[in-house]
Amino acid sequence: MSSSSLRLGVIGTGHVARRAHLPAWTTLPDAELVALCDTDPEALDAAQRCIPQRSLPAFDNARDLLAADMDAVSVCTPNMAHFPIVLAALEAGKHVLCEKPLCVTADEVKALGAAADKRGLILMVRHPLRFGTSAREAIESMRAGAAGEVRHVRVRALRRDRIPTLPGLIDRTLAGGGVALDLGVHALDMALWLMDFPRVTAVTGTVQTRYGRDPDFVGRWGGWDRARFTVEDTASGHVRFDNGVTLSIECAWAGDFDPAEEGLSCTVSGDRGTVHWAAGESPEPSQPDFAAFLAAIRTGGPSPVSWREALPSIAILEGLYRSAQNGREVALY
Ligand SMILES: NC(=O)c1ccc[n+]([C@@H]2O[C@H](COP(=O)([O-])OP(=O)(O)OC[C@H]3O[C@@H](n4cnc5c(N)ncnc54)[C@H](O)[C@@H]3O)[C@@H](O)[C@H]2O)c1
Repeated sequence: MSSSSLRLGVIGTGHVARRAHLPAWTTLPDAELVALCDTDPEALDAAQRCIPQRSLPAFDNARDLLAADMDAVSVCTPNMAHFPIVLAALEAGKHVLCEKPLCVTADEVKALGAAADKRGLILMVRHPLRFGTSAREAIESMRAGAAGEVRHVRVRALRRDRIPTLPGLIDRTLAGGGVALDLGVHALDMALWLMDFPRVTAVTGTVQTRYGRDPDFVGRWGGWDRARFTVEDTASGHVRFDNGVTLSIECAWAGDFDPAEEGLSCTVSGDRGTVHWAAGESPEPSQPDFAAFLAAIRTGGPSPVSWREALPSIAILEGLYRSAQNGREVALY
């Protein structure tokens, strides 16, 4: 840490904060972690125990943390709390690195984008897979024209028997949605990024809860509260873009798939060939995305993963849920 370090706070000190954000903000040379916030005192204690300082100022609500002196915040709460907290942080003049998904509706994305742009603040969505080696190889192949003119993209986010156990991921009031928002958004973001964000025109989708409320289904990550399981564990959809490209998406936390199909992947097929990206389930290096956020603050941008880039994936997922409810195709623009 140096005298010119950027001062950072973390809001929501659960699993992803402790696994990724706190290690980044306590090891990157130009970052200084100055405060923590969580509504759960046990999560705050656990966070204090995994940082070298061990006794940072800690708050039980975001408003109080945002009143403190700092340049930026990480937002790591469950999905449904992202929108109000990110908006409050931007209104308080802080740059924001928000966990995926940025929020759950396209209108919310636009409102956050407007709040950031009005104040010249960096708003970055955390999609760490974009910074991995396999993503770099895939985008270089796309830019070199390996696929040619893109025709169809197949997006998959599949697990065979790993249903999350955290309430924040399975309770709709906290998560906003299930596997599509949790895993699908990663692979969908990758596909859209590889295609340089063509304009989405329509989406159809289906969501199902096949395993999450089944008392006899055994997940590899242990048990969860069946009564609180109010999201989908299986989702699929079809997307059309204005350039004629189509995209299919399949997401599942559980299912009888071929083990070789497990993981996050997308396959871009064009008139010249195919570009395939797969993350599997192995952790990708995550520090580059945190360093990119700090660099964007110092240079004045652009955001390494901007709200404009997040907009089509959130619009597609919002449309997929709406289509699943209505049983009809949803026009997006
Ligand atoms: N980018 C990735 O690869 C990745 C990986 C895992 C999780 N995530 C995302 O990170 C977010 C958190 O996931 P997690 O697994 O850490 O969940 P978690 O439940 O372990 O942690 C969330 C924490 O937020 C706290 N919280 C809830 N509401 C709050 C509020 N209003 N103010 C302050 N704190 C509040 C909870 O008490 C909890 O400690 C989710 O949006 C999830 O989608 C992203």
